Amino acid sequence: MKSSVVSKLTFEQVDPDVGLRSAIDSSPEKIIQTVLDSGLRGRGGGAFPVGRKWQVSRSVQAPQKYVVCNAAEGEPGSFKDRAILSGYAQLVFEGMTIAALAVGAQRGIMYLRGEYGYMAAHMESVLAARRKSGLLGKNILGKKGVHFDIKIQLGEGAYVCGQETALIEFLEGHRGEPRNRPPYPAVSGYRGCPTVVQNVETWAWVTCVMARGASWFKNLGTDESPGLKLFSVSGDCKRPGVYEFQLGLSIAELLDVVGGEDAKGVQVGGASGTMIPQSQFRRKIAFEDLPYGGAVFILGEHRDMLEVAGNYLEFFTKESCGQCTPCREGTRKLLDGVNQLREGRCRALYLEQLISLGKTIQMASKCGLGQSSPQAFLSIVEHYREELMGRVRIDE
Ligand SMILES: Cc1cc2nc3c(=O)[nH]c(=O)nc-3n(C[C@H](O)[C@H](O)[C@H](O)COP(=O)(O)O)c2cc1C
Ligand code: SF4
Repeated sequence: MKSSVVSKLTFEQVDPDVGLRSAIDSSPEKIIQTVLDSGLRGRGGGAFPVGRKWQVSRSVQAPQKYVVCNAAEGEPGSFKDRAILSGYAQLVFEGMTIAALAVGAQRGIMYLRGEYGYMAAHMESVLAARRKSGLLGKNILGKKGVHFDIKIQLGEGAYVCGQETALIEFLEGHRGEPRNRPPYPAVSGYRGCPTVVQNVETWAWVTCVMARGASWFKNLGTDESPGLKLFSVSGDCKRPGVYEFQLGLSIAELLDVVGGEDAKGVQVGGASGTMIPQSQFRRKIAFEDLPYGGAVFILGEHRDMLEVAGNYLEFFTKESCGQCTPCREGTRKLLDGVNQLREGRCRALYLEQLISLGKTIQMASKCGLGQSSPQAFLSIVEHYREELMGRVRIDE
């Protein structure tokens, strides 16, 4: 059994409530400006600039606004949010409170993945301690009229509920299915009110940015992808675990740290990410090169890439909400094709049709699930074609 590593995280070194105190002494505009200046982008996969989302939400006039923590962490191979929640939940709640001050929200909700239900009692105790210290509830830190509180709502195991509009549908008590966008949740989200949804890790970085300043964060990482990021590293390496790196590091650098130098490929971004072959290990994990969900899966020399593609597709066929045909039917058809390939029953022409089907699913699906489900398959076909062609039927 391999041991699991949690590298030394910045979250351990940030003094509690410094960020919130600095925010409460500031104005909403200045808080948003600090977040904008830091260049912080969402850490849940989409990488949307956080300050821009808050600006939109602030600009909408509404009697009620919400901030939501997306703790769905459904991406296969991702466990960094779990590490944050179990060790640094106070930073997450502090970040949500800072956003509430900035956009003018009075209510917060944490959507906690059902499988993390065992952490709910711990989350509640952190919330209770914050209420007791005047960091949540009425007149936060003694400031008259500043009210904000957070409740926790448990999910029920659907991957698609991590998608922000499906998550909101679920929170409202409906079936968790993605909505059409626009309107985006920052304008019209939970119960039709402006709602800022951010990933667990994003909330924790918000707190660090407010405590340490925008330029501290901006000076780390790359120009387009500033700052630090947590990665869940698993698969064929000597030291799997949760790591903190500056964005912009290359795959080769990451493999060196985690002991995965002999990898045949690395799946960056979880099941919905891309398979990167050895020849591209110099590529950088950053918004401008390889988008970064946070799950890094390392594949050793012995791995059968078709089995990997099949596993991911099987996951997506089970998790598709079924609303749109390309995703519901197309992903199943792709999985059939991969199984035919594995059994040596797939003809070369059919492989080309599968590639075309994958691209169509990406284009025609309504939400990010269908838009990304063929990605691993397509990148495996592109980079491991020789390995695959050995299994294609050529009797025509
Ligand atoms: C199918 C699907 C699943 C998702 N799952 C998650 C998830 O588990 N956690 C998360 O933070 N974002 C997830 N997202 C992204 C969210 O829709 C949204 O972009 C994110 O919560 C915004 O927060 P951020 O900007 O801080 O990353 C998912 C998106 C899709 C399409
Ligand atoms: S792409 Fe898939 S998961 Fe997304 S709405 Fe369509 S059927 Fe549902």
